[in-house]
Amino acid sequence: MKHAKKTARRKILALRDAAHDPKTDAAMIQTLMALDAYQKAKALACYVSYGSEVDTHPLITRALSDGKTVAVPHCVMKTHEMKMLTLSHFPDDLKPGTMGILEPDPAICPEMPPDAIDLMIVPGVGFTESGERLGYGGGFYDRYLPRLRPDAARIALVPEYLLFNALPTEDHDQRVPVIITERRIINCYHNNASH
Ligand SMILES: Nc1ncnc2c1ncn2[C@@H]1O[C@H](COP(=O)(O)OP(=O)(O)O)[C@@H](O)[C@H]1O
Ligand SMILES: [Mg+2]
Repeated sequence: MKHAKKTARRKILALRDAAHDPKTDAAMIQTLMALDAYQKAKALACYVSYGSEVDTHPLITRALSDGKTVAVPHCVMKTHEMKMLTLSHFPDDLKPGTMGILEPDPAICPEMPPDAIDLMIVPGVGFTESGERLGYGGGFYDRYLPRLRPDAARIALVPEYLLFNALPTEDHDQRVPVIITERRIINCYHNNASH
């Protein structure tokens, strides 16, 4: 299974690097910002996009100007620990961390506790319509998602071409309940998972 995931990740990331289209990113962010889950959220946790990932920088900027509390991930690779740290200024509170990805400075950004989060934007490499997720290989979100309040919204922004009929998954893999594409909003738990 480790091998199957690794192969799928490599293939999908190569596809994404070739096909990434910023125009579809903007459409997904627009759809998200019109949802109650966004408008009612006081505290939002969102990854800081890197490379060909769906661009979340405009979302973070807008959420801060909408008066929301915004936290972004800080990962410790060695211990596989991820915390969400609260930003006051974007991108000024960030500096390049592991692999050049922008991370918050733990010296100036306080932790947002998991139970304070109203909405989490979940990153990933590939998804299925039933919400199965292939991540980057650290298992960070598989460990973090169960710590959110049950009523917290969990949403993935996924261009149509990164939706697959099936993906290699294991029991520990967490699904996302809602996926936003450039064309539609998918209620994933209405679709049966393949395993
Ligand atoms: N809840 C968990 N508790 C302990 N280890 C976990 C948990 N979730 C995932 N892992 C470990 O993290 C590693 C990466 O998980 P994987 O699902 O392959 O990555 P990703 O979700 O980033 O694609 C695996 O070795 C897996 O066993
Ligand atoms: Mg996983």
